[in-house]
Amino acid sequence: MTRSATQTLTHPLGDLEVREETTPVHAADRPDAAWWRQAVIYQIYPRSWADADGDGIGDLPGITSRLPHLRALGVDAIWLSPFYTSPQADAGYDVADYRDVDPIFGTLADADAMIARAHELGLKVIVDMVPNHSSDEHVWFQAALSAGPGSAERERYMFREGRGEHGELPPNNWESVFGGAAWTRVTEADGLPGQWYLHLFDPKQPDFNWEHPEVRAEFESILRFWLDRGVDGFRVDVAHGLIKQQGLPDTEEERTVMLGHAEHDDDATPAAAQPEDAPRIDHTKRSPMWDQDGVHEVYRAWRRILESYGTPDRILCAEAWVEPQERAVKYVRSDEMHQAFNFDFLTSSWIAEDLKAVITSSLQAADSVGAPSTWVLSNHDVVRHASRLGFAPGTPRMNGISATDPQPDRALGLRRARAATALMLSLPGGAYIYQGEELGLPDSTDMPAEFRQDPTFARTNGAETGRDGCRVPMPWSADGPSLGFGPGANTWLPQPDVYAHYAVDQQEGVAGSTLELYRALLANRRRLSLGTGSLTWVDGYAADVVALTNGSDQRERVLVVANLGDAPVALPEDAEVVVASGPLEDGLVPSDTTVWAIWS
Ligand code: NOJ
Ligand code: MG
Repeated sequence: MTRSATQTLTHPLGDLEVREETTPVHAADRPDAAWWRQAVIYQIYPRSWADADGDGIGDLPGITSRLPHLRALGVDAIWLSPFYTSPQADAGYDVADYRDVDPIFGTLADADAMIARAHELGLKVIVDMVPNHSSDEHVWFQAALSAGPGSAERERYMFREGRGEHGELPPNNWESVFGGAAWTRVTEADGLPGQWYLHLFDPKQPDFNWEHPEVRAEFESILRFWLDRGVDGFRVDVAHGLIKQQGLPDTEEERTVMLGHAEHDDDATPAAAQPEDAPRIDHTKRSPMWDQDGVHEVYRAWRRILESYGTPDRILCAEAWVEPQERAVKYVRSDEMHQAFNFDFLTSSWIAEDLKAVITSSLQAADSVGAPSTWVLSNHDVVRHASRLGFAPGTPRMNGISATDPQPDRALGLRRARAATALMLSLPGGAYIYQGEELGLPDSTDMPAEFRQDPTFARTNGAETGRDGCRVPMPWSADGPSLGFGPGANTWLPQPDVYAHYAVDQQEGVAGSTLELYRALLANRRRLSLGTGSLTWVDGYAADVVALTNGSDQRERVLVVANLGDAPVALPEDAEVVVASGPLEDGLVPSDTTVWAIWS
């Protein structure tokens, strides 16, 4: 379908001629496309969603009891961050036993019950897989420590001799994503300092040696363990890190960008105050620890395992901070993973031209390998978009916000976050939502240092605030000891006072609330099958407007207008509004507002 007729919009600031471009940038998917090509998946951060036993930490029985919230929200699936046995040095991303549940979260029986209840409610369940590293308390690492240098046990991890006359210097110059050296020296059985082991993250997260067949076999068996329990897929942690460049050469990069963290400089002004042209990392330089070609063969083997479970498809979703997009989409070639988070969209500024460019290039890159794009705006590693967008567009992204940093404009951030989500959910492909964003939750931006638990905070002596601000327990009700999070007053991170205002019970059934907006967006996205539609840009609006149509032969065309400019903009006369991220003003779309309209 092409629409070439020009529509003249009568506008208080002068008439506009808007017209759909003749060629879509992305063609519609098959209407019966596999579920994951269009699914909206809700991320649960188990520590912070719902606490059944009142110890202040969320748990699996808590999750099970709250699942009806997600059924009512209208998502297709959940992804849970790790709940496996773990000393919790990195909030569960340090796994000591991949086949068991940590007692703080419950038991294997609780996991089975959670999976069964989710399925009863029509929700698929994705669990986290953490293959790059284990906990240092994993039996294999403990065995490696006691077996000593040269042993078969040490081969499963990345042990090396140090440099320098007495091996006193780390084997290379790699830095940990969390700050400090990526190597730690062990004390050998004779009581003397000995070999070093690699940890791209915390010292309590030793990296596996993925060249070792036993490591590969072990993870294939772990995948089967969870597939046999009924999970529908895996989100793969640090998917681009498993294989390191042969010989482990020094890197030229000063600071890794694994989580998109800004370059770290002790003397720098706070990130939020830096000018737009502050030095950024040169992504064209390939780094010896990330995105090595050898990782792909691992995922091809995993895909074969998942496919052996038949349909509906069980899926893999890559957490791969890889640039450029041509390399990132290699993870979603048809014999590898199904999805990869679109972090270019997450990191894009609130600038219409940037968004248009990233949407176009993302769809084209994904189309080049036949994959859907997987949109995302927030997760447990980044400042929530309701806070991030409360800074001036173009402000470099920060790793947490502390009380001494410039503070986001909360009302503006929320308004833009609602508009950004409405734009995201109108796009073809899949999308991830992070718990609490359906409430419009801001980050905790004034958490006292003594509560902070992200290892990056301690490892950089507080120079990096870290990710605790986006991990605060959910407010379910305005009253109650922990805002309905659990039966006790305790919460593992303090809830800011303002969270009461955002509680689920304050928003449910309230017209115009963020929760009701998300429900309306998700219901209409499903009804109109926007996830499998085509995308065509609409010309004629000013440069600070993102305007597109989402089309399909099976239903009416949907016009999406996101106004990032100051002046309100008009809609075509024959456009019927379906949902808007905020109230229209005299029929016009005001600043920082997104509208979906049927445009037949
Ligand atoms: C990415 C996870 O999302 C993050 O939370 C974690 O710290 C690192 N990987 C290390 O596992
Ligand atoms: Mg608990």
